[in-house]
Amino acid sequence: MNDPAPGFRIRSMALNDVDGVLTLASSLPEAPHWPRAAYEGCLDPHAVVRRLSCVAEEATTGVLAGFAVASLNSPQSELESIAVAAEFQRRGVGGRLWRFLASALAEKGASEAFLEVRVSNRRALALYRSLGFTEAGRRPRYYADPAEDAVILRCILR
Ligand SMILES: CC(C)(COP(=O)(O)OP(=O)(O)OC[C@H]1O[C@@H](n2cnc3c(N)ncnc32)[C@H](O)[C@@H]1OP(=O)(O)O)[C@@H](O)C(=O)NCCC(=O)NCCS
Repeated sequence: MNDPAPGFRIRSMALNDVDGVLTLASSLPEAPHWPRAAYEGCLDPHAVVRRLSCVAEEATTGVLAGFAVASLNSPQSELESIAVAAEFQRRGVGGRLWRFLASALAEKGASEAFLEVRVSNRRALALYRSLGFTEAGRRPRYYADPAEDAVILRCILR
C-alpha cells in the first residue's frame, strides 16, 4: 500500500517532545490547550488513567508536524486530542497519527474508540468521518467560549 503521508515519521511521544507539542497546540485555536503537566502525565506509565500518545515529525528535518493522545479503559478508548501544524495539514498526517494510536489501542485490548468534537469543527469532523468514525450522540452546549454542542463519534477498532 502507498504511504498516505510520505516524508513523515510517526512515533510514540517522549518527554523532550512536550515543548514542541505545547507550541504546536497553542498555534491552533481548535486544538485542546492542555497544561504541560497534562502532557507529562500522558507519559507516566504509573498514571491512574492510562494514555497513549504519538507525534509526527518531518523525516528530513525532524520538525514536529503533529501529535495525538488517547486514553485507554479497555474495552473502550477515547481520542482526546489530535493536532497537525497548519503548514503540514491535508497531507495525511492526521490520519496516520490516528492509525498509529488505533493499532496500539487495539493491541492493548480496546475494541472501540470515542471522541467529542465541536459541531463547528468541520476539518476535524471530515478527518474523523474519513477514518470511519460515526455519530453516536450529541451533548447540548457542552463547550464554553463559545457555547456549542459536542458531537460524540464512535469507531470500532480492529
Ligand atoms: C483536524 C486535523 C487534525 C486534520 O489533520 P490533517 O493532517 O490535515 O488530516 P489528513 O491530511 O490526514 O486528512 C485526512 C482526511 O480528512 C479529511 N479532511 C481533513 N482536513 C480537511 C479539510 N480542511 N477539509 C475537508 N476535509 C478534510 C479529508 O477527507 C482528508 O483526506 P483527503 O485529504 O485525501 O481528502 C487538523 O486540521 C488540525 O490539526 N486541526 C486543528 C486542531 C483540531 O481541530 N483538532 C481536533 C479537535 S481535538
